[in-house]
Amino acid sequence: MNILLTGGAGYIGSHTCVALIEAGLTPVILDNFSNSHPAVLERLRQISGQAVVCEKGDVLDTPWVTDLLLRHEIAAVLHFAGDKAVGESVAQPLKYYRNNIGGAVSLLDAMQATDCRTLVFSSSATVYGDPASVPITEDFPRQHTNPYGHTKLVIEDMLAAMQVADASWRLGVLRYFNPVGAHPSGLIGEDPSGIPNNLMPFVAQVAIGKRPFLNVYGNDYATPDGTGVRDYIHVQDLAEGHVAALQALLEKGESFTVNLGTGRGNSVLEVVKAFEQASDQPIPYQIAPRRAGDVAQCYAETALAKALLGWSAKHSLAGMCADAWRWQSGNPDGYK
Ligand code: WQD
Repeated sequence: MNILLTGGAGYIGSHTCVALIEAGLTPVILDNFSNSHPAVLERLRQISGQAVVCEKGDVLDTPWVTDLLLRHEIAAVLHFAGDKAVGESVAQPLKYYRNNIGGAVSLLDAMQATDCRTLVFSSSATVYGDPASVPITEDFPRQHTNPYGHTKLVIEDMLAAMQVADASWRLGVLRYFNPVGAHPSGLIGEDPSGIPNNLMPFVAQVAIGKRPFLNVYGNDYATPDGTGVRDYIHVQDLAEGHVAALQALLEKGESFTVNLGTGRGNSVLEVVKAFEQASDQPIPYQIAPRRAGDVAQCYAETALAKALLGWSAKHSLAGMCADAWRWQSGNPDGYK
């Protein structure tokens, strides 16, 4: 069974490719390589023992996507393609509305035209904004605090409207918390361009000496040690979550929206300590002012994903740091 992964050469997409192959499915990658690297394809072949079909192009090109769905006899789509930097979305909102919302509209048009109505959408815990409490359940109010989060919220609403208009759509919305780590082979991993926005890749670059120290954005939050608390989830668990979501849609046909997290919160300083232990490298840091838009705490209630998908995260923070370190130390310049 052929499964299309839009943005499949990216961080989450490439790891999900491996998990799909291990589940006996055939991934087909669509990627414009705007935030990923073609070298991933050879790494995927090394890991899985088979070449992964990839077509270079833009999900905004509806005629081309329509043709691709037909040529590859795509049974279902995992939609990863999109921009995801919160700060960049504030500076360049139109880029985010065009690429993320426009891309989703184009993909849905192509899927409708070819009667391919099974979709897993990569959403984000960012749709919860600043939660009133933690852990967060899927029925918490949604609010956006930046254009990136707004695009995820709007696409969720678009999918809900498609479902009302045509009950035959089978839609799985996955709200990721904080994806980190890398495949245990160390052959694929997170490869941010420029200065990493996210904590884990920045810490990894401090550990290999690429950055002199970490700025800890605030230590005066109402959290146990004053630094921000997040639900870090291993990208391998996230990849397995996509396979479980796809199988649930194909076997049961019921649409759903679930959190993909561990249900545990870890602070910035806990991540620093865990990474020092995993890498046996010091992670010097300085306390810096809070970052605009950050929330104090964000972690998942995970019961619904367990009940609907039979899925739960398995990896520990120590394991996430060990796998992130193996990838970073083995690939100091990423896929370059
Ligand atoms: C985590 C914690 C920071 C960097 C974002 C998006 C979310 C998803 C994941 C795409 C916070 C602190 C960070 C640094 C720091 N992205 N931090 N120094 O902001 O929770 O979530 O990325 O899907 O949608 O919103 O992740 O890793 O940027 O920050 O102290 O150099 O680490 O303040 O407490 P975030 P993050």
